[in-house]
Amino acid sequence: MRTQVVIVGGGPSGMLLGQLLHREGIDNVVLERRDRAHVLSRIRAGVLEQGLIGLMEAAGVADRLHREGYVHEGTNLSFDGQMFRLNLSALAGKPVIVYGQTEVTRDLYDARAAAGLPLIDTAEDVAIHGADGDRPHVTYTRHGVEHRIDCDFVAGCDGFHGVSRRTVPGTVRRDYEKVYPFGWLGILSQTPPVSHELIYAGSDAGFALCSMRNANLSRYYVQCAAMDRVEDWSDDRFWAELGRRLPAHVAEALVTGPSIEKSIAPLRSFVTEPMRWGRLFLVGDAAHIVPPTGAKGLNTAASDVHYLWQALARHYRANDAEGLERYSEQALLRVWKAERFSWSLTMLLHRFPDQTGFDRRMQAAEIAFLRDNHAAQVAFAQNYVGLPY
Ligand code: APR
Ligand code: PHB
Repeated sequence: MRTQVVIVGGGPSGMLLGQLLHREGIDNVVLERRDRAHVLSRIRAGVLEQGLIGLMEAAGVADRLHREGYVHEGTNLSFDGQMFRLNLSALAGKPVIVYGQTEVTRDLYDARAAAGLPLIDTAEDVAIHGADGDRPHVTYTRHGVEHRIDCDFVAGCDGFHGVSRRTVPGTVRRDYEKVYPFGWLGILSQTPPVSHELIYAGSDAGFALCSMRNANLSRYYVQCAAMDRVEDWSDDRFWAELGRRLPAHVAEALVTGPSIEKSIAPLRSFVTEPMRWGRLFLVGDAAHIVPPTGAKGLNTAASDVHYLWQALARHYRANDAEGLERYSEQALLRVWKAERFSWSLTMLLHRFPDQTGFDRRMQAAEIAFLRDNHAAQVAFAQNYVGLPY
């Protein structure tokens, strides 16, 4: 088989890129290790920046998002029980939309199926060959049979554990990493959200986040120990801990109920450089991870997709390689800014095991500055709604 671009990984990055390339008349094949049901069972953050919304529109998959997503004009920060609101639209000129990443991925799967585009799922042993030459190809095994796809370019959209990043030789690659000494325990519950906008809360007992999926589906998180297991956290313990970390009037308004999903995610910041090796381009979680504070994971993947889509369009339309040459540099510039914002919000609101009284005072002072200073609020809001591409 031959195609123009092989996309390794059918997560949101790969599926969005595939749809955008298709609309540009660029043939592509998506190779995914799991099946659709598995991909669509993953629960991730749900705050979409305008940049991503624009890409969904360009890909022709934004109808449901506009119908069912919730426009959030503001967000709330709380520290030691004191809460304040930042009006994102007033401060940064745009809101965000709350719409689950799972739904984004579902819309992309439906669109790809409707357009009859090739998506090879349950592809095992995917391997990328000759990416540093002119004629790369990708091999994989399916139902015990080995297959080969020849292509012009490979987009490595296969997440943190994928094969693409590991294909870049260690002599070329530089990895940067910070692992945080805690995790996030998240639950979904069929209860009305406690607030119609998100609440990011820091407290002596640790971080908590109130988020939502719809009018009767809440998504809540509490910071937990890195070693904790889901079994350590009964629903009762979760609700008590969440309430303790929120302002009293919010805690009193919490509607609790059984969790329908409960999971623990570790927190890490990670970037690999460069994001291109010859004809292989790394996109999304394959190249970088952010801690979930600030919901930048999918949004940062989206900016990579934007740069690569534009670069490939320019290459095929005008035989102009400049976008491809500049991809890594351009993508990384924005990636590092998203890393900085996610890291700073994580440092600001979490309880660290070795934290001193001085460190706590620094957090409190930074929060007070943000609450009282317009310029700081503008900077926060611009980062939160998403920096320009
Ligand atoms: N071969 C083929 N597919 C693979 C391989 C492989 N060797 N390894 C992993 N995959 C698939 C995974 O099964 C997954 O469906 O690649 C996909 C990668 O998807 P994600 O991990 O979701 O990464 P990405 O598409 O970049 O999405 C960006 O935003 O909120 C963040 O981390 C969150 O998933 C999110 C990300
Ligand atoms: C979520 O709704 O799951 C969510 C929202 C905001 C975040 C992280 C996760 O920063």
